[in-house]
Amino acid sequence: MSAADLRQKFLEFFSAKGGPTTGGKHAIVPSSSLLPDDPSVLLTTAGMQQFKKYYTGEADPIKDFGSKNTVSVQKSFRTSDIDEVGDDSHLTFFEMLGNFSFGGYFKKEAIQYAYDFLTNELGLSIGYVSVFRGGKGVAADEESEKIWKSIDSSLEVRKFGRIDNFWGPTGSEGPCGPTTEIYINGVEIWNLVFNEYYAHSNGKLERVKIPGVDTGMGLERLTMVVRNVKTIFDTNLFRPFLNALPEEVSEKNRRIIVDHLRSIAFLISDGVRPSNKESGYILRRLMRRLLVFEQKYKMRPHVFEAILHDIIHEYGDFYKELLEKNGAIRSEFSSERDKFSKTLSRGLKEMDKVDIIDAKYALGISTTHGLPYEIIREMGGEKARGLKKEDFDREFKKHQEISRAGVEKKFGGHGLLLDTGELKAKNEEELKKVTRLHTATHLLNAAMHKILGDSIEQRGSDITVERTRFDFLFPRKLTADEIKKIEELVNYVILKNFPVSSKEMLLEEAKKSGALFFSKGRYPDKVRVYTVGMGEKIFSRELCGGPHVSNTGTIGHFRIIKEEASSAGIRRIRAIIE
Ligand code: ALA
Repeated sequence: MSAADLRQKFLEFFSAKGGPTTGGKHAIVPSSSLLPDDPSVLLTTAGMQQFKKYYTGEADPIKDFGSKNTVSVQKSFRTSDIDEVGDDSHLTFFEMLGNFSFGGYFKKEAIQYAYDFLTNELGLSIGYVSVFRGGKGVAADEESEKIWKSIDSSLEVRKFGRIDNFWGPTGSEGPCGPTTEIYINGVEIWNLVFNEYYAHSNGKLERVKIPGVDTGMGLERLTMVVRNVKTIFDTNLFRPFLNALPEEVSEKNRRIIVDHLRSIAFLISDGVRPSNKESGYILRRLMRRLLVFEQKYKMRPHVFEAILHDIIHEYGDFYKELLEKNGAIRSEFSSERDKFSKTLSRGLKEMDKVDIIDAKYALGISTTHGLPYEIIREMGGEKARGLKKEDFDREFKKHQEISRAGVEKKFGGHGLLLDTGELKAKNEEELKKVTRLHTATHLLNAAMHKILGDSIEQRGSDITVERTRFDFLFPRKLTADEIKKIEELVNYVILKNFPVSSKEMLLEEAKKSGALFFSKGRYPDKVRVYTVGMGEKIFSRELCGGPHVSNTGTIGHFRIIKEEASSAGIRRIRAIIE
């Protein structure tokens, strides 16, 4: 059974399921674009995204689909996995098979359908399943466990918490709920989400009136288990394309290349164009990585062009837009090649001049030619063997400090003593004041998360001697009561005279520690994290470059003087210390 057969089988299976008591047969709905209508997400990451409004009752599925139940094969893209691509299972673009119900059926039928499809239709045997064991104020999903046991009493049911078995909203708010997941050969195959709640942008969960079903099963993984092969790359979705690359290309690099070629074809066919912003930036990054491989292995343009051609035709049977946009896919790729090749060859020429590319030299190439570390490392080959990311980052930091010192010297006494972009101060006196305001801004950010929920997100701040200005993502005006509570909380922490400390951490570690950061920011691998509080009493933790006061007691009294809209969806607070 090929991947194309599986798509078909899945759609047929569900289009025959459902009846008058469960909301009707599943309507087959085409995949939505990778560029979603929903502005809160950059690209489509799941099948349920196009159906959000049916879960909330804003739109009527009977009117639009003639049924309360739908089934789809959805084009999906997850940027979060970009750096893992090349191993056995991660991808950027993938296809998601899913069945959905908006008040038609619920757990019992959804679990039974999934079980029947995998075991009866495909003849697979389920390894084990998992259910939600409860947590963070949400009850355990005992019902799903009972249903599984009633279908097959010998089935192993594992129980996991919020991270594994609770699906959060895509974007800042939306339907969500406990999940049950099906594992075959140790791999998670199918995720069944029971939308019992609606997550508001302030993080609060509210029970929904119409419980919904949202499921997702990666076609690549399903094909892998059906064909009984070890990795997703050993399926017909990938192997023929991997084999079309020259012998000297390593398996890992083949996987990256084919993943990225698939992605760029689908992104361009849905209207994304390379740029330095948002989805355009993602596309550009994928293209440039491809072009680096092209240079590295000295492949002529026709190698990638031939593979792109085959991808477009193989997938074009199901996704007609690939055939329709065939011309655009090719011309966008080749024009990016033209743009990038000059930068790349200038960088290569620099690399030719030395025998060893150390961190310092790499940084020089990076800053003069705008080539990222990964590319220098890749292109440097043997010469860059000893090049390490942490050394490169250290050099980068040194470089930043030197340029900052340069700025300070240049303006010393007359212009600005400090200008980090965020903080500006003319002299020592002002520097002390903006430092206090800066720590106060961290307290403000943390207090807002505690009072408004974790969906608020900092979008920028600007600190002068007079005030701090703080921009954040939030859908509405703050109430007078909320403003008062935020002020009170900040002043409470100031009064408590909490210590402020900082520590250098790996970016991943810092994110895991719960530190606040800009989701859209680009950070080096090593970052500095500022913490307000100690031990059990940590009030704020944030990725930041400083400077900060050493104890909150020196900040002074904090007051919000204005709260207003800054631009669509973004609010702005101005605050002072007295
Ligand atoms: N929306 C769920 C997922 O993407 C099904 O895993």
